[in-house]
Amino acid sequence: MALKSVDHERLAAGLMGLALGQFRARYLAGGLVLPPGFDQAARRLEGGEPLQYILGRAPFRSLELAIGPGAFIPRPETEVVAGVAIDYLVGLPTESRLAADLGSGAGPIAAALVTEVPGARVWAVERAWAALGQARANLEPLGVTVVGADVARVGQAGGPLADLAGRFSLVVTNPPYLLPDAVLEATVADYEPPAALFGGGVDGLETPLVFLAAAARLLRPGGAVVMEHDPSQAGALREAAGQAGFVDAKTGVDLTGRDRFLQAIRAGDG
Ligand SMILES: C[S@@+](CC[C@H](N)C(=O)[O-])C[C@H]1O[C@@H](n2cnc3c(N)ncnc32)[C@H](O)[C@@H]1O
Repeated sequence: MALKSVDHERLAAGLMGLALGQFRARYLAGGLVLPPGFDQAARRLEGGEPLQYILGRAPFRSLELAIGPGAFIPRPETEVVAGVAIDYLVGLPTESRLAADLGSGAGPIAAALVTEVPGARVWAVERAWAALGQARANLEPLGVTVVGADVARVGQAGGPLADLAGRFSLVVTNPPYLLPDAVLEATVADYEPPAALFGGGVDGLETPLVFLAAAARLLRPGGAVVMEHDPSQAGALREAAGQAGFVDAKTGVDLTGRDRFLQAIRAGDG
């Protein structure tokens, strides 16, 4: 038996509940029997469906999250963004560890925060119904409060989280930010929800700016926003942060050294 690609190996390993290394060790030892359902799952993979949707789960930092169609698949660069947010929150006194994840999708960032930061109290906001159901399944058992809402209304008078406006120490977010001409792999373009991908406008910044304004409403003075973005958006977002009431705006890089996230502090005495 030979498997056609490393993704076929990952699929077989995932269906068997094995890590890839464990699967290969058994494969090399010989006599490996592929799990029932492998052929059907392999046909889905060959049709372009993302491996994570087929397996129904996706890794994120130390976690495995349930994931399915309708929710954005967590990406490795977001693990870096979550790591920066976690380090920031860990540096605060326990009683100040209030954090919001805007546009939570299936909930990877919020899940990482609540599991890696002792005493963190975390809220996750998501608008899309399919993603919201997955966020609830992943996050509520961990103690995260999941809010089904449009981020545009969050923290507004009478809106969701209005009672917590100005009280959060951290807002972390991976908003939709792709530019309209972004070139996508077919597995992304054909399967992941466009509303989770494209930021809107010629520069992809329409939604990120809405999220930045929400962060400004939610944060206490001295609180921090961490926002993932496209490399082309770094300068515009630093400038927008200044206009939205933030100071000390700077840009963080991903594992390949590309400008990938905004960090800024809510102005005022904190
Ligand atoms: C790029 S995905 C990120 C998902 C998740 N945070 C992650 O990193 O895997 C952006 C998410 O924001 C949600 N979203 C987009 N616009 C929104 C809005 N106005 N209000 C609430 N959620 C929104 C999308 O449905 C999607 O789940």
